[in-house]
Amino acid sequence: MTAFGAVAITGASRGLGAALARRFAAPGVRLLLVARSRAALEAVAAECTARGARVRIAALDVRDAAALAAALAAFEVEGPVELAIANAGTSAGTSPDGAPEDTAAAAAQVAVNLLGAMHLVGPLLPGMRARGHGAIGLVASLAAFRGLPDTPGYCASKAGLFAWGEALRAAHGPEGIRVSVICPGFFDSAMGDRYLGPKPLRMGLEAAAERVHRALLQGRARVVFPAPLGWLLRLLALLPPGLGDRAVRLMRVRVRPEA
Ligand SMILES: NC(=O)c1ccc[n+]([C@@H]2O[C@H](COP(=O)([O-])OP(=O)(O)OC[C@H]3O[C@@H](n4cnc5c(N)ncnc54)[C@H](OP(=O)(O)O)[C@@H]3O)[C@@H](O)[C@H]2O)c1
Repeated sequence: MTAFGAVAITGASRGLGAALARRFAAPGVRLLLVARSRAALEAVAAECTARGARVRIAALDVRDAAALAAALAAFEVEGPVELAIANAGTSAGTSPDGAPEDTAAAAAQVAVNLLGAMHLVGPLLPGMRARGHGAIGLVASLAAFRGLPDTPGYCASKAGLFAWGEALRAAHGPEGIRVSVICPGFFDSAMGDRYLGPKPLRMGLEAAAERVHRALLQGRARVVFPAPLGWLLRLLALLPPGLGDRAVRLMRVRVRPEA
């Protein structure tokens, strides 16, 4: 188990990111909480401060690489980020009226879920490599494992994040960088609420956060839960494409757009 003295978390204004912030908050710990909603970040920051952490917030969009790099640089004036968690995420898909996701929605998911993670890790990696240690957590999804008919952009963004994280770990693991690629299944959150369809083995938010928190403390390379759903999707990906397509067509869903 590693204790982290300085943790940067994107998507920390609610859901999994906020739950992780609360779990990492402790005396002697510095937190950088990133998301767009300043008021929500301030509320999470107050909870973390009450737990003894020193907290800085950065209200910005992770698509803005320069703004995120500047926030990280300001935070690192007091000491380096020891753990960076790329958790900010957005989702879309087939709308409740049955209209398929358009290109703009697909591109937006890639921009936030994949490029946003790169914008977090990119400025931190050189310092971590120079110091010979550092930890990175990338929150992907079980949707990384097989393209699903109603969430193509989301699947693409998470498959890209999964592949990027595995590549980073293979490249920089020997230099002392720990990369944890995290693939959760369904859990309760604002994002989860917008997903209209069966959510097999759905978990509560805190149960999911507990799994992710523990895995990051342990430095686990790949974290897939719930395991049965993870195996199912990976097996579907191994089927001949026609058979796999037929199987995933049994899982049609709708996704309410973000407000
Ligand atoms: N819920 C699930 O069932 C599920 C399953 C598998 C994986 N995941 C993944 O888990 C992660 C957390 O999801 P969640 O369920 O906790 O979702 P959530 O409750 O919707 O929270 C998403 C977080 O990301 C932030 N965010 C979104 N777009 C952003 C942007 N452009 N710039 C900066 N921050 C942005 C949001 O804050 P602002 O709106 O304030 O910016 C919020 O803090 C995501 O990566 C998601 O894909 C979720």
